[in-house]
Amino acid sequence: MEGLGAWAVVVAAGKGERLGLPYNKVFYRLAGRSLLGRCFDALASAGCFDGAVLVLSEEDIPRYQALIQAEGGLPLPARLAVGGATRQASVMRGLLALPEDAGIVAIHDAARAFVPGTVVRAALESARAHGSGVAATLVTDTIKRVDGADCSVETPDRAFLRAVQTPQAFRLAEILRAHRQAEKDGFLATDDAALYERYVAPARLCCLPEGQNNIKLTTPEDLRTMETRLWGTLRVGHGYDVHRLVEGRKLILCGVDVPFEKGLLGHSDADVAVHALMDALLGAAGLVDIGRHFPDSDIVFKDADSVKLLEQVAMKLGEMGYRPANVDVTIVCQRPRIAPYIDAMRANLARTLRMPQDCVNVKATTTEGLGFEGEGLGISSSAVAAITR
Ligand code: CTP
Ligand code: MG
Repeated sequence: MEGLGAWAVVVAAGKGERLGLPYNKVFYRLAGRSLLGRCFDALASAGCFDGAVLVLSEEDIPRYQALIQAEGGLPLPARLAVGGATRQASVMRGLLALPEDAGIVAIHDAARAFVPGTVVRAALESARAHGSGVAATLVTDTIKRVDGADCSVETPDRAFLRAVQTPQAFRLAEILRAHRQAEKDGFLATDDAALYERYVAPARLCCLPEGQNNIKLTTPEDLRTMETRLWGTLRVGHGYDVHRLVEGRKLILCGVDVPFEKGLLGHSDADVAVHALMDALLGAAGLVDIGRHFPDSDIVFKDADSVKLLEQVAMKLGEMGYRPANVDVTIVCQRPRIAPYIDAMRANLARTLRMPQDCVNVKATTTEGLGFEGEGLGISSSAVAAITR
């Protein structure tokens, strides 16, 4: 089983009725990133998938395309499949859209957008070794079986109870066989392990303590819990930078080539605004400053495109589990006029940081002729960044 390609099937073709938003809950944006985007971030950061099939309802495809535009794409190669009337039918459509060489498949609910990498890896490893691996938690509540009037009629022994989640990973051939048979028999279940245990073998559960963080967004209460948790991890950073204006250099600000008779002097492309932003992001994460990560002495960074360095900063934050929630950059410059380039600058930064444009602000100001910026000797920039975990 070693070396079998692992794929994810992410089901997102529901309506999210219990949450009560006027649209599918997977598009809900939490601190600058949709749940769907966050779900893919979480799966990609587990580092074990060749690709993913994303199952959507036909009517949600335009919204999905707009989201991809706004958030700068998904971090895993994704194929689209159109879902069905039930979760089970949606999973089946997803399985059928997988490439034939996908040996192992992890079926995952997009509504579990914060799945820890350890949980994903445990499910896949178990599926490789034993044929199945299903994310689960021990139950801490006592569970009752009730009658139609909500009266308890039985108390099963908690030691033999588990709450199951997704991902649920299986060998593709086996789970596909189970799904086909269930369809034939008209057997409907709320998870895939139920089909596996009925038609293939008992499914192996993976109970990790981190499973407690693998919340499924179902009700408005879940949404409040998630928002509180996420904003509870908020950190803020500030950055400041100055470069001298000289003749014979290009003027690059936020990755935009601004036509002017002078440009900024520096070891890299001297993009003062991006440097301030990088320092704000690194500062928020407690990672000191750019000098520490991209030393001037390093030849690799000679004339470097600062936007590429910003991308690396975002990756460093990602490795620590952080992502920017919003950023605000101020450019202090007497001349040239920056206003005509602001939209292009925001678009550049948003694309690089995979953030919606309304969470990325860029503005410029003059100093009414005062100081080195006012005298046209240099340009300074400051930035503030908020990041969440
Ligand atoms: N799902 C799906 N196709 C369906 C129904 C559900 O792909 N026909 C997906 C949902 O998008 C979700 C996952 O299955 O990611 C788990 O389902 P659930 O939490 O019940 O989501 P919804 O069905 O969207 O929500 P609700 O039941 O409140 O309408
Ligand atoms: Mg549902």
